[in-house]
Amino acid sequence: MPQPSFRVLITAERIQKRVHELGARIDADYPEGPVYLVAILKGACFFLSDLARAITRPARIDFIGISSYAKGKTSSGEVKLTKDLDSSIEGAHVLIIEDIVDSGITLNYLLKVLSQRKPRSLRIAALLDKPSRRIQPVDVAYSGFQIPDEFVVGYGLDYAEDYRNLKDICVIE
Ligand code: IMP
Ligand code: MG
Repeated sequence: MPQPSFRVLITAERIQKRVHELGARIDADYPEGPVYLVAILKGACFFLSDLARAITRPARIDFIGISSYAKGKTSSGEVKLTKDLDSSIEGAHVLIIEDIVDSGITLNYLLKVLSQRKPRSLRIAALLDKPSRRIQPVDVAYSGFQIPDEFVVGYGLDYAEDYRNLKDICVIE
């Protein structure tokens, strides 16, 4: 496939500024003790690495893999766990780190799975949100940017596994 053209929607600079604002809020909101950052592979990995360093309180990180049975631009609505956490989250303050909330199906599934493991608290931080696409409501405690219904890539987000390493968040034209 020839290289498509990209339109920058959110610059790397704006992303960094917003991530630091979210980090400061997380610092202020949580009680003493570590916050357990659970990033959803693979899209949230850049957001996790920047957000974790924008938080000054003690933090632990872990990864969870979720497949939505889709290779293109839309999810099929079916979800399954492809990689589990390395350790228990019982009694922990867990913050799920996600790249984008679209239908809300992935996060509702993950909230159900993780809440059964008795964390002390369970919240969501999502860099991007497409509210117009929501099928299942989801409460996002820390939301970076609301965007229109356009398919975006970069800063971890992919189209069929490509373009995750773009520095800006872009729309494919
Ligand atoms: P949901 O379950 O429909 O909320 O989908 C969430 C997942 O779909 C995200 O974790 C992304 O992997 C993917 N996704 C949704 N919208 C986009 C987009 O615009 N670009 C890249 N991936 C997207
Ligand atoms: Mg994805």
